Amino acid sequence: MAWDTTDTLGKGDVVSNESLANLLREERRFAPPADLAANANVTAEAYEQAKADRLGFWAEQARRLTWATEPNETLDWSNPPFAKWFADGKLNVAYNCVDRHVEAGHGDRVAIHFEGEPGDSKAITYTELKDEVSRAANALTEIGIEKGDRVAIYLPMIPEAVVSMLACARIGAAHSVVFGGFSADAIATRIEDASAKLVITADGGYRRGKPSALKPAVDEAVARVDGVDKVLVVRRTGQEVDWTEGRDIWWHEITQKQSAEHTPEAFDAEQPLFILYTSGTTGKPKGILHTSGGYLTQAAYTHHAVFDLKPETDVYWCTADIGWVTGHSYITYGPLANGATQVMYEGTPDTPHQGRFWEIIQKYGVTILYTAPTVIRMFMKWGDDIPAKFDLSSLRVLGSVGEPINPEAWIWYRKHIGADTCPVVDTWWQTETGSMMISPLPGVTEAKPGSAQRALPGISATVVDDEANEVPDGGGGYLVLTKPWPSMLRTIWGDDQRFLDTYWSRFEGKYFAGDGAKKDEDGDIWLLGRVDDVMLVSGHNISTTEVESALVSHPSVAEAAVVGAADETTGQAIVAFVILRGSAAETSDLVGELRAHVSKALGPIAKPKRILPVAELPKTRSGKIMRRLLRDVAENRELGDVTTLTDSTVMDLIQTKLPSAA
Ligand code: WT7
Repeated sequence: MAWDTTDTLGKGDVVSNESLANLLREERRFAPPADLAANANVTAEAYEQAKADRLGFWAEQARRLTWATEPNETLDWSNPPFAKWFADGKLNVAYNCVDRHVEAGHGDRVAIHFEGEPGDSKAITYTELKDEVSRAANALTEIGIEKGDRVAIYLPMIPEAVVSMLACARIGAAHSVVFGGFSADAIATRIEDASAKLVITADGGYRRGKPSALKPAVDEAVARVDGVDKVLVVRRTGQEVDWTEGRDIWWHEITQKQSAEHTPEAFDAEQPLFILYTSGTTGKPKGILHTSGGYLTQAAYTHHAVFDLKPETDVYWCTADIGWVTGHSYITYGPLANGATQVMYEGTPDTPHQGRFWEIIQKYGVTILYTAPTVIRMFMKWGDDIPAKFDLSSLRVLGSVGEPINPEAWIWYRKHIGADTCPVVDTWWQTETGSMMISPLPGVTEAKPGSAQRALPGISATVVDDEANEVPDGGGGYLVLTKPWPSMLRTIWGDDQRFLDTYWSRFEGKYFAGDGAKKDEDGDIWLLGRVDDVMLVSGHNISTTEVESALVSHPSVAEAAVVGAADETTGQAIVAFVILRGSAAETSDLVGELRAHVSKALGPIAKPKRILPVAELPKTRSGKIMRRLLRDVAENRELGDVTTLTDSTVMDLIQTKLPSAA
């Protein structure tokens, strides 16, 4: 089965007797720019306020939204861990993301600057978005979609993706977005699990300079499952498609004939908004369920606070795909609830050239950029001279999400993209948390490269040891969330027991995130990767993230992936796979130098036993390194499931490297 295996919760046995060794020392500090601090949306006071009255704080944040019925109740935690937030309130999420901005006189503001990969572009104002969403909502109703139904969405990064999501929200149907790079298998599993009645797709999208078909995968998936009555098809590329009469409907045909008027109905705050699937190592993907009022409150608040968004002047760009939670919370819901102007880009960063991102920033005057460490490391590899050719002076805040960001990648991002002045906000969260949980605030926090630092106002996070005791400053262990938060997952769709087992059984009364973490001497949190990726070397728990960061801090290394391989003497031995920077030559001298470099940075215990230079690393489609496969290579095992890799030939290349192991 081709489902994604990026997260592997519940297997934390590797971190057993001892807490994580705290090896990395990072002394660099960056204060917020004075002008940003002086005009920041959120100041240090927010922490105090939320600490004094957490629920009062969230009740106040809920008032950022427009409610049809204001909530009186903030949190119902009478049946933990099944939370209800703002349960007696009623609202319409799409109204909050679109109509109310038009009513407030901002209808002419651009909501989305769409940039297609082939270079076509289109500006969509809030008024136009309202009309589009209304037409789509009317079309869904005509098709027979009702409140409480599920709709699968399998689209490229085009405005119709956002419009579809909002149209579902508007009529109270839950969407289940399936990433456009996933297979027919993955679509079928997700349609089936959620019993979706409708699929919204496109003929194709543009990828690496070519139209890439989407509809065939939907045709195949729908043929295999029961219950999908209709398939809506957006025409994007104009390529040929197979057509099933009576089932398939062109998006443009059905939406164009609809009225642009649609009265949004008010739904309960706990009305399901979406299901988004995240995978496990075993078993079927987990359908993470998010609901309306609490989710939107925290998505909107964090987008306002962490990016310091000024909707009148900022141009925001999140480079994620709509198929990931980042696209849900920080392309569709958070920014639109806040009335932001944003860029949406369809394609890849190197089409038609490696400066495409910077060209887009220059073209639209992007002020806030939100991207992932894997993308940043790729830019580092491509060279400093590429961004240097563009005017990036509009930028004022830089965000990172998806993985721990190595300190060197953080510094590169700040220096080469942010003119050495933009704050970098490293935001830790998960599909399950719905929105950001741990992050610096750009106008408040003295930033530390590589650390997400501190739980946001109103959020309670800490690090515990095996026995659930909070570790002291300087200690390491497991990241846990200790109080419910508004955008928390409500359950795993159709499987409450799995919800309990996966997240709430490891530590009594605490949410187990599945990430290793440490606290530094100031109590700031450093994320150390998934607990399955922690290595146990001669009795010491060592984080793969820290060894990778040490390698990346060497001028010859662009990217590194580290695994623990079974070893007779040390239990596990550290094996590192590195991608060298353009000019560095692969010699045994260099390998020796890199081992010494790690030893110097982290101590001899962290010195890799073997270092293998490789051309590429195996990554999932969301950009995460699949260490599991590298472990297979390092332990001379047959490779596990490679179907979720972006490019499975990468593994062949890596395996041919083995004889040259140092
Ligand atoms: C896992 C969640 C959050 C949206 C994208 C990923 C890792 C995410 C960070 C960060 C260190 C991070 C964690 C987490 N992660 N952000 N800033 N620092 N690790 O969502 O696919 O649900 O993955 O991504 O391991 O548990 P996701």
